Amino acid sequence: MSKVFVTRNWHPNAVKLLSEYFSVKVWDQPAIPTSEQIINSAQECFAIITEFDDKITSDIIKSIPSLKVISNRAVGYENIDLTAAKSNNIKIGNTPGILVETCADFTMGLMLDLARNITFSNRNVLDGKWISFDQTPYLGTDVYQKRLAIVGLGQIATSVARRAVNGFNMNVSYWSRTRKTQIESELNLNYVDDINELVQNCDYLSIHCALTEDTYRIIDKEQFDLMQDVKLINTSRGPTINQNELINAINNGNINSAALDVTDPEPPNHKSEIVKHPKILITPHLGSGSQETFNKMAIMAAKNIINVYQNKNMISEVVIE
Ligand code: GLV
Repeated sequence: MSKVFVTRNWHPNAVKLLSEYFSVKVWDQPAIPTSEQIINSAQECFAIITEFDDKITSDIIKSIPSLKVISNRAVGYENIDLTAAKSNNIKIGNTPGILVETCADFTMGLMLDLARNITFSNRNVLDGKWISFDQTPYLGTDVYQKRLAIVGLGQIATSVARRAVNGFNMNVSYWSRTRKTQIESELNLNYVDDINELVQNCDYLSIHCALTEDTYRIIDKEQFDLMQDVKLINTSRGPTINQNELINAINNGNINSAALDVTDPEPPNHKSEIVKHPKILITPHLGSGSQETFNKMAIMAAKNIINVYQNKNMISEVVIE
């Protein structure tokens, strides 16, 4: 029987499904497997299911000659050495689509949290600072009818825009490499072709672009300097913003506060300024983390493997150029 290795013990339903076709080995230690442990555990495996923070290097790929599929339970796949995978004829699967609404919910949650100082006030309650009825330290701003600027207009950003327009009557602008006129007219969005113009005219700025060479630090000092009292939400990838400049921008008032579900690096040092900053709220890369979506992504990762095994197309295959 062919073998599959799963790098976490989080996915009983996916393991059950895979077990109909494969002998499945699951990593069951609390710490994530090291490269050496992946190599040892995945020997003779046809496929592995990996998580976003399993670094699948060329060394790992070369050390498991039986490997035919790397199935990442994530949309992003920057943890995998694509060149090594291609030259070893390994297919890569990912799990886009099903997390869209879940991530959009989470983005709105972070926006509302920043707007109304939910986490920041809770920190004080935990510190015993709720002495009498006094809202004045926590007076936030409305979300309803405010201006939202979106960087990138992929599926998640579109769902965020839909919530913002239909649920909160926000005035939504976006910048994207490619203009999307159909979504624009459906949701009445304003397209801005210059990112510097976008960031100058918003109350909330939400980052949704994929991380590429072009979007690395797309929000940097130049952009922060143009902002005024903006609340920033990042649920895409940490390196899309310059974090040191974010801290400066908060300290000098260009940015009011920030909610980061992604950081650079991930996880951040828990003693670092970015984690300790009173106006920065960090969550541990939770965008897609609802029970329903977590489970669906694992099942999709399993099906991607089964499909290759049955000589069918993956539900989602990463095309390596
Ligand atoms: C999460 O960030 C993912 O890429 O699925």
